[in-house]
Amino acid sequence: MADLASVDYFSDESVAQSPYEYLAYLRTRNPVFREPHYGVMVVTGYQEANEVFRNADAFSACVAIGGPFPPLPFVPVGDDISTQIDEHRHQFPIFEHMVTMDPPQHTRTRTLLSRLLTPKRLTENRDYMWRLADRQFDDIVAGGRCEFLGDYAKPFATLAIADLLGVPDSDRDEFRARLGGYEEPGSRVGALDHEPVGTNPLQWLEETFGEYISNRRTTPRDDILGILASTTYPDGSLPDLIDIVRPATFLFAAGQETVTKLLSSAVRVLAERPRFQQLLRENRSLVGPFIEESLRTDSPTKVDFRLTRKTTRVGDVEIPAGTVVMLCIGAANRDPRKFEDPDEFRLDRHNSREHIAFGRGIHTCAGAPLARTEGQVTLDRMLDRLQDIDIDESAHGPAQHRTYRYEPTFLLRGLRELHITFTEADR
Ligand code: HEM
Repeated sequence: MADLASVDYFSDESVAQSPYEYLAYLRTRNPVFREPHYGVMVVTGYQEANEVFRNADAFSACVAIGGPFPPLPFVPVGDDISTQIDEHRHQFPIFEHMVTMDPPQHTRTRTLLSRLLTPKRLTENRDYMWRLADRQFDDIVAGGRCEFLGDYAKPFATLAIADLLGVPDSDRDEFRARLGGYEEPGSRVGALDHEPVGTNPLQWLEETFGEYISNRRTTPRDDILGILASTTYPDGSLPDLIDIVRPATFLFAAGQETVTKLLSSAVRVLAERPRFQQLLRENRSLVGPFIEESLRTDSPTKVDFRLTRKTTRVGDVEIPAGTVVMLCIGAANRDPRKFEDPDEFRLDRHNSREHIAFGRGIHTCAGAPLARTEGQVTLDRMLDRLQDIDIDESAHGPAQHRTYRYEPTFLLRGLRELHITFTEADR
């Protein structure tokens, strides 16, 4: 990469393909550093990113997805812009979804979601994933090769969430067909062309879930959607239909692309490193640490944003109210002050799980247990069903000259395609 000082993180294609050198360079300038193009405060330090994530009083999530795009709908005035944020909240991209909310509205919405993500539901969901993984490997195993994202990861991530939410079996094919190539709102706002996100890109899902839930409110049924339909706030009041539907449908936006990216980056490492395949086959308890190290080294949510509500010092830098802060999760997870030899994928790393790939604080990923299970089940079943997993040289070139294309977005980190070859394991 030529001149790191003049790189525009938000539009430079080569940085989108290979972000870590640039982000490490920024950290050497300062773990909290104002980039020159948009005036965004870039946080690349582990400790500093944690501090911002945990300080919901000083940092608002209203710009969580869009960051500096579109520009703020007001000119910030003073050292506390709480009132301005509240007055303009409905002008921020996807303001209706919890990821951009602040307390107390965020707290109420998140409570509804916690009714759904119970340990019992997650266990049932895991059993479903196990069967689903097997079915999907049934479809590809004999061919000896596949494009892993389209043939496995995307449909798997879609159907895992559909099952979690209790989408009727008869409708799941439609979900798979409609959402297979689904782009989450963040991936559009993250595109390098800065195309603005629509205000409600989850329209179809909202209509479908609206129907499910309203049917169950008129005719109660003892299923997951029925539980959702009768869920109440802690004070016993019944939420409006849309306030149930939105947190439910948002799971698709938050959990599809991210999980697809996690699964493909983990499988890429597995296919590149036969030694890891052997180690995981010999000791399946290493699958968990393998997933954590994949999350750390190639964090699917590359960056996340906050708007400084109150002028606050982070590290040795004072961040004025009204400043957009970019929390570089992928860089914080490679901060050498936290992770020794950070660019190395190590199975025996003692603190891998302290990565912040799922964020921190009140917005910590609600689907983290689900994502981890999806990773665990996929690798477990893959190791059972396939062997000699390798990168397909006809698509990615020979071992010393691999080419991988990543999605050209500033927000997420993930492969566009991953072609692998394999043989069928003895059963
Ligand atoms: C590897 C996969 C995943 C990664 C890396 C990931 C990452 C994240 C991150 C970094 C946040 C915090 C956003 C912020 O603070 O601004 C978040 C929030 C969230 N995630 Fe995930 N996520 C993943 C999978 C999932 C799945 C599978 C689901 C659900 C099915 C999910 C649901 C959510 C929800 C609902 C939020 C918003 C929580 C809130 O605002 O309180 N995520 N995720």
